[in-house]
Amino acid sequence: MEASALSRIGLAGLAVMGQNLALNVAEKGFPISVYNRTTSKVDETLDRAHREGQLPLTGHYTPRDFVLSIQRPRSVIILVKAGSPVDQTIAALSEHMSPGDCIIDGGNEWYLNTERRIHEASQKGLLYLGMGVSGGEEGARHGPSLMPGGSFEAYNNIRDILQKVAAQVDDGPCVTYIGEGGSGNFVKMVHNGIEYGDMQLISEAYDVLKHVGGVSNAELAEIFDEWNKGELESFLVEITADIFKVKDEYGEGELVDKILDKTGMKGTGKWTVQQAAELSVAAPTIAASLDCRYLSGLKEEREKAAKVLKEAGLKDEVQNVGVHVDKKRLIDDVRQALYASKICSYAQGMNLLRSKSNEKGWNLNFGELARIWKGGCIIRAVFLDRIKKAYQRNPNLASLVVDPEFAREMVQRQAAWRRVVGLAISAGISTPGMCASLSYFDTYRRARLPANLVQAQRDLFGAHTYERIDRPGSFHTEWTKLARQTGAGVDAEQ
Ligand SMILES: *[C@@H]1O[C@H](CO)[C@@H](O)[C@H](O)[C@H]1NC(C)=O
Repeated sequence: MEASALSRIGLAGLAVMGQNLALNVAEKGFPISVYNRTTSKVDETLDRAHREGQLPLTGHYTPRDFVLSIQRPRSVIILVKAGSPVDQTIAALSEHMSPGDCIIDGGNEWYLNTERRIHEASQKGLLYLGMGVSGGEEGARHGPSLMPGGSFEAYNNIRDILQKVAAQVDDGPCVTYIGEGGSGNFVKMVHNGIEYGDMQLISEAYDVLKHVGGVSNAELAEIFDEWNKGELESFLVEITADIFKVKDEYGEGELVDKILDKTGMKGTGKWTVQQAAELSVAAPTIAASLDCRYLSGLKEEREKAAKVLKEAGLKDEVQNVGVHVDKKRLIDDVRQALYASKICSYAQGMNLLRSKSNEKGWNLNFGELARIWKGGCIIRAVFLDRIKKAYQRNPNLASLVVDPEFAREMVQRQAAWRRVVGLAISAGISTPGMCASLSYFDTYRRARLPANLVQAQRDLFGAHTYERIDRPGSFHTEWTKLARQTGAGVDAEQ
């Protein structure tokens, strides 16, 4: 084969995501080779490339033919299931690769697996990137958000391709070099954690509107359409409006009411919460969304619990609260509560990223991360531009909540936010995400917390010592002895 016939890049793993990404690359004018062990997948992709506009895509049926069809230094994207399938694919391909070539894993991989593979690849002289890809099947085909981390040299080799393939927004393509090691996978993982939070908060807004406000599906569709024209404009709000419009093909009413209330998950949300705990970073909104998925899974238990508690005399409080509700005001309050809760959730995600960046020396650029999430990905939203600007104003921002603009917005919305959460609590409608965000805000903004009492308790039973507010040093007190000597208990009764 002559050099000019070689492909610019290769892609192995032709499930729908892989096929779509390969077609996207080809459509942007970069000749691409594709491979899959299952030969029918290769033929399927070739067929699509032909039908979707004679795209420059060649199919290969052995790892060797595939690798040798790519110009050097070779860049090979693999899109297979995370974990051992990635190792197997790397083993099959790397045998035919040469020093300076690069493997790019586009799956939702655990960042430490990527760091191990970077090391293994380097022993063969190969470069490696772990690249988060967000946007689902649609995004892969027409413009995803890309989060490549690992070898900077490898990134530079395909920078032109990634910049064309990624979603395009007003301030550029939704891709940037994230940092070294497994940073690309880690950032994608936190993106998914934030996505859990967004979806949970939206579902709570729906729950409150529906059960406290008595809002119908048709009205919900209108409300979300309206919200999508303002500060909440985002992919998730847009698709939520669409969901309420779909009729049930098997019966009366809308499909949404017939869907079993059990949420599935694939693990990135759990990893995010585990990492938050590892790094001692509070991420209560994201944790609440994960817990809610777990509880949703206990459908049968919940049905039994509802029955037992009803028999024990639990009354439905919704009716009592609902009668006094001003629907128009509730809708406006819920919009504000959703927005304020969302800011707190993003603050948690960003602070988790900062903590990891400090630990690993990744030097993450938070303004850039917010920018590449403006398009392509599931959490894409207009307000990410505001987050970008907040970090541009101050790259060392302690929390989004204290950025002057966001701080003003939080203050403006807090009364509505408290009304919604209070109403929901009175009605017995759980809003764990909104409550977690509000508690996070109220805890973070208070200069003095009841942690003094916890410190006293720790010192009493474990001699853990405490610090004082009025003089330096660490102190220990014989609490029990002093308390009983002075007869403080007796005084208190007078
Ligand atoms: C090929 O296709 C199958 C079935 O879709 C998939 O399980 C496998 O991981 C793919 N990848 C490779 C590199 O063969």
